[in-house]
Amino acid sequence: MMIKQNKLTDVFTLANGVTIPCLGYGTWQTPDGETTKNCVKMAIEAGYRHIDTAFAYGNEVSVGEGIRAAGVKREDIFLTTKHWITERGYDKTVAAVEASLKNLGTDYLDLYLIHWPAVARRTPNWEEVNAETWRGFEKMYREGKIRAIGLSNFEPKHLDALWKTAEVKPMVNQLEFHPGYTQIDTIRYSQKLGMVAQAWSPLGCGAVLKDEMLNAMAAKYGKSVAQLCIRFALENKVLPLPKSTNAGRMAANAEVFDFEIADEDMKTLMEMPLLGFSGFIAEEAPADALAFGE
Ligand code: A2P
Repeated sequence: MMIKQNKLTDVFTLANGVTIPCLGYGTWQTPDGETTKNCVKMAIEAGYRHIDTAFAYGNEVSVGEGIRAAGVKREDIFLTTKHWITERGYDKTVAAVEASLKNLGTDYLDLYLIHWPAVARRTPNWEEVNAETWRGFEKMYREGKIRAIGLSNFEPKHLDALWKTAEVKPMVNQLEFHPGYTQIDTIRYSQKLGMVAQAWSPLGCGAVLKDEMLNAMAAKYGKSVAQLCIRFALENKVLPLPKSTNAGRMAANAEVFDFEIADEDMKTLMEMPLLGFSGFIAEEAPADALAFGE
């Protein structure tokens, strides 16, 4: 399918008019320190202008250093970070934004996301808790410390609840999305509500790359499985956030604008059996902190 975007810096437009480069560089599990700093710098040198991190990744300081080391102007980078589950509620959220700004060494964020929703199974008043966290997001958005605000890993029931109280509607929902685990109903529902959907682990953390069927399909287009997966996200209007610690693979992951996936292959990719699933589900994890290795 044809898509609007033709290069790494072409954009998706959010509900408030803010634009995001259509392919971002992810930093989950990239070790803090020199590795993250160098990877972020390399990604920017490879042409990426959209960097995605999170407080919980523990690498915000190095992400900030990498951006500065690349020597591009702050306003030429789209920088996303995420609010962590230990900081829920209005006051803690406001403080969490300040902490992330300090870590990143910047005075504004382009996008700030609730990393995981509070859920019924662990938080009886989960609706209220998410609403209060969101109020903190709205305050910082209105003060101009954040250009856009959104969510991650919210399922339709969490979205519906938040929609009842949100004065500024969330602009993004970032979800695990790749062939073998698409959560397509949640993606479509998020888009219907006016959000841009983003894909974390668009390569299934690397696990889908060995699949035989995917290799055969990618070969047909003269592309790698990674490129096929990234294009699959874009053709679903989902903004992919692939990560790599290797300069060659970072560059290769951006070469996805010179082919189109045939309709029948899109269908096959969408209907693949479970593959490369991270195991993270908001409602089913045994306990907030434990589920995330805390
Ligand atoms: P590496 O850092 O050695 O490149 P995801 O973004 O879905 O979480 O997947 C990330 C994983 O996929 C990392 O292990 C990364 O390893 C690997 N990876 C990223 N790009 C490619 C690529 N083009 N070819 C092969 N492996 C890749």
